[in-house]
Amino acid sequence: MTAARFIVFEGGEGAGKSTQSAALADYLRARGHEVLCTREPGGTPAAESIRAVLLDPANAGLDDRAEALLFAAARGDHAARVIRPALERGEIVISDRYLDSSVAYQGVARGLGAERVAELSLWATGGLVPDLTIVLDVDPALGLARVVGPDRLESEPLEWHARVRQGFLDIAAAAPDRYLVLDGSRPAEDLAVEIAVAVSALVGDA
Ligand code: TYD
Repeated sequence: MTAARFIVFEGGEGAGKSTQSAALADYLRARGHEVLCTREPGGTPAAESIRAVLLDPANAGLDDRAEALLFAAARGDHAARVIRPALERGEIVISDRYLDSSVAYQGVARGLGAERVAELSLWATGGLVPDLTIVLDVDPALGLARVVGPDRLESEPLEWHARVRQGFLDIAAAAPDRYLVLDGSRPAEDLAVEIAVAVSALVGDA
């Protein structure tokens, strides 16, 4: 069964994205779909190397524009070498974070400008946008409490993470047909069911 679709999970720290990505992949595979699970920053050897630079606390003080360019560079390689080929094979791609993370973190929270940062990633990826983005919305105080051993970005103050959260909510509100916003503090099992229903409709299983 083939139904090429690009599905992304977004949200702040500790929102439960990786749990829900894995649950959705299991659900779709059990229904006969080919699924590729991936994540950002990362997904290719070069992008994983860039990830290490971006998350290393030793790079505290990395220039904001340099940070935005590195995320976009990693995304460009990921889109060209992993996501597009999988979609061309007819697979369902599930990515833990993608373009909207750059818009919320670098565009909104860092103040570089949502539109400019979105354009940069659209250029980097040749305009590859998800069919559906699932935003797991949690209070950053709750999400950060779930994080063990904070990395460079997780170490930013609570107000900064509050801007990230609002960034995601504003992006989703601007294009409600391509976004599903869910309360990430709900039980994981309930969220998984709701996500499975929405994705079944998207892939034509409903
Ligand atoms: P990761 O450990 O993968 O965080 P999480 O488990 O919350 O996804 O680290 C990714 C970090 O990078 C996270 O703090 C979000 C941030 N980020 C950006 O700032 N911009 C981006 O474009 C992406 C993809 C991630």
